[in-house]
Amino acid sequence: MTKARTAILISGRGSNMMALVEAARAADFPANIVCVLSNKADAKGLAFAAANGIATKVIDNTAYPTREAYDAAIDAYLRSKDVEAVALAGFMRVLSADFIAGWDGRIINIHPSILPAYKGLHTHERAIAEGAKVAGCSVHMVTPELDGGPVLMQAEVPVLPGDTPDTLAARVLKEEHKIYPQALAWLANRIIEERE
Ligand code: GAR
Repeated sequence: MTKARTAILISGRGSNMMALVEAARAADFPANIVCVLSNKADAKGLAFAAANGIATKVIDNTAYPTREAYDAAIDAYLRSKDVEAVALAGFMRVLSADFIAGWDGRIINIHPSILPAYKGLHTHERAIAEGAKVAGCSVHMVTPELDGGPVLMQAEVPVLPGDTPDTLAARVLKEEHKIYPQALAWLANRIIEERE
């Protein structure tokens, strides 16, 4: 089996990226993490990726005049690395429709809510404010509709009395780290099948 060459895009801490890198150490994991790209030079996750022998790349969005120009630069980098699958892991930018079309069926994202509930930002604050009893996370295919693509996997956690956005986020994050590797494995296996 030739593993699916996978890029991970981050903007910050990178804990989901780390979970994917750890999972990909297994000999039978179908994805190989070939690069980690960040739009921010100070993204904490970059050091972990580099220390694990993974190519890292910063493409600073503030250096590009338009979203389309920025996304074209990312696209060119991913193509230069022969990437087959893209995993967004706390990559806090909206991607243009053209970029997404170029990766149709090959790009996934993790989002800290049970989609379709709480698309967008500040998911945990909103869930607590509305008195939600259940929260969680979703991995979905990326389509031009923000947080709107087909859901691949979800996990739920309870919202507990006294939860703050931070305590709830921490409970959800543990589940993110479990489901994201499973969802990436599913995508990678599909890509490997399509190749053959
Ligand atoms: C994660 O909770 C992820 O689900 C969320 O950002 C965090 C990144 O943490 N993503 C979004 O909100 C996307 N809209 P990480 O950098 O430690 O993986």
